[in-house]
Amino acid sequence: MFPFCWTLTLLSLSLLTLSYKGLVHMHTLSVECETFAPKKTQARSSSMALIITLAALIIAAGASREATITSPDSIQDGTYPPEVAGICAASVAVHGYKCQEFEVQTEDGFILSLQRIPEGRGEGGKGARKSPVLIQHGVLVDGMTWFLNSAEEDLPFILAENGFDVWIANTRGTRFCRKHRYLDSSSDEFWNWTWDELVTYDLPAVTSFVRKHTGQKMNYLGHSLGTLIALASFSEGRLVDDLKSAALLCPIAYLNHMTTALGVVAAKAFAGEIGSTFFGLAEFYPKGVDVASFLKVLCAHPGANCYDLLTAITGPNCCINASTIQLFLKNEPQSTSTKNLVHLSQTVRDGVLAKYDFGNPAFNLMHYGTPSPPIYNLSNIPRSFPIFLSYGGLDALSDVHDVQLLLDNLKFHDVDKLSVQFIKDYGHADFVMGVNAKDLVYNAVVSFFKSHMASL
Ligand SMILES: *[C@@H]1O[C@H](CO)[C@@H](O)[C@H](O)[C@H]1NC(C)=O
Ligand SMILES: *[C@@H]1O[C@H](CO)[C@@H](O)[C@H](O)[C@H]1NC(C)=O
Ligand SMILES: *[C@@H]1O[C@H](CO)[C@@H](O)[C@H](O)[C@H]1NC(C)=O
Repeated sequence: MFPFCWTLTLLSLSLLTLSYKGLVHMHTLSVECETFAPKKTQARSSSMALIITLAALIIAAGASREATITSPDSIQDGTYPPEVAGICAASVAVHGYKCQEFEVQTEDGFILSLQRIPEGRGEGGKGARKSPVLIQHGVLVDGMTWFLNSAEEDLPFILAENGFDVWIANTRGTRFCRKHRYLDSSSDEFWNWTWDELVTYDLPAVTSFVRKHTGQKMNYLGHSLGTLIALASFSEGRLVDDLKSAALLCPIAYLNHMTTALGVVAAKAFAGEIGSTFFGLAEFYPKGVDVASFLKVLCAHPGANCYDLLTAITGPNCCINASTIQLFLKNEPQSTSTKNLVHLSQTVRDGVLAKYDFGNPAFNLMHYGTPSPPIYNLSNIPRSFPIFLSYGGLDALSDVHDVQLLLDNLKFHDVDKLSVQFIKDYGHADFVMGVNAKDLVYNAVVSFFKSHMASL
């Protein structure tokens, strides 16, 4: 069951999004549960079902508490989120901030969109040299997820007003990152990646771009999957030379402590399939029609109560405004690759952070030179690297016990280089969209970054 939970958790990185959108799915789901009798599924579809389930769980989590909010906007199966000019135009300039759009090419050919808010409102471009901050969202959302509250409550603006030069990363496959040097986003090859590639290609491309552009090292802020890929990078000695410090919200490295009924059912049904089954390469679009049929499989599983699953899987978020949820449903969730979700499932199953498992020793040998995939050893994170961790008591995805396990991995970290914040009432999405996140989290992040601004 643990593996399952893990996956869920990871997915939830960005869950915020999913959760909310989940509301909608929940309704669909409940109908389908009654309509469809259990079907015998093949191994491959079971595996897919697992993934879907995870997504469903995540979605469900959010859905449970905000079930009264159903927007027609959120029901748009098979269609992509509304076309907007870009994050600068849609979410930044409208608030009176300067904003620049950049494109960054990864070594494996993906073209990523990157935004910059160079200064606070009304500074007129004559400010002193500013310290850059790079902000990395989680899975199944994009950079717009940081802009769903009022300007006074949104993290990027708060950082800009506090004198930082703010850069917003977007992961391959999301709305504004569906370009490649030679691959089309409708091809299988375009979706042939997992979070390993975010570690190996996306993060290095973006950080080195920001460093070249500003001539400075930067601070890093990640949420959910944005913390996992950072921790994995640090464990390989990546990025640490380009960063001054890292603030990790809802840090994800272990996900063993989810103990929901759904988790048990799902793990029994599917855990064995993961890794032993060949998965097709494909886009995983949470609002697409395929997901609905995955949910059918899930609901048809004996013992799976579609309503309870939602409620059971994740804790609620405490502090998200209904209008923010509407905006979220309109713009998120975003696509990722199916292979990425499989990798997350493997992470759950194995309880260690390792590279993608090709599913049999011969393939692993071919790719890695070892029969099992290499691990990301968190003990190798440089002990003098400044880290700020913030986690929530209600976060069912980034569970308190699992964060403790991560902290245990960091127990030899220099004491004055590790700050840990615990917010009892906070759930996963509150860290990104909570109306009081400024007071509870962002002010502490600003202080942390300021205290490490001088680092070379
Ligand atoms: C996917 O990537 C792997 C390497 O990670 C490669 O061996 C495989 O051939 C690729 N498959 C496709 C269809 O591009
Ligand atoms: C929630 O959003 C509405 C509309 O944007 C706003 O008027 C209200 O002040 C918000 N509430 C909080 C607590 O931020
Ligand atoms: C991780 O690294 C530490 C020291 O850097 C080592 O003692 C430990 O055995 C490693 N763990 C694994 C699983 O390789």
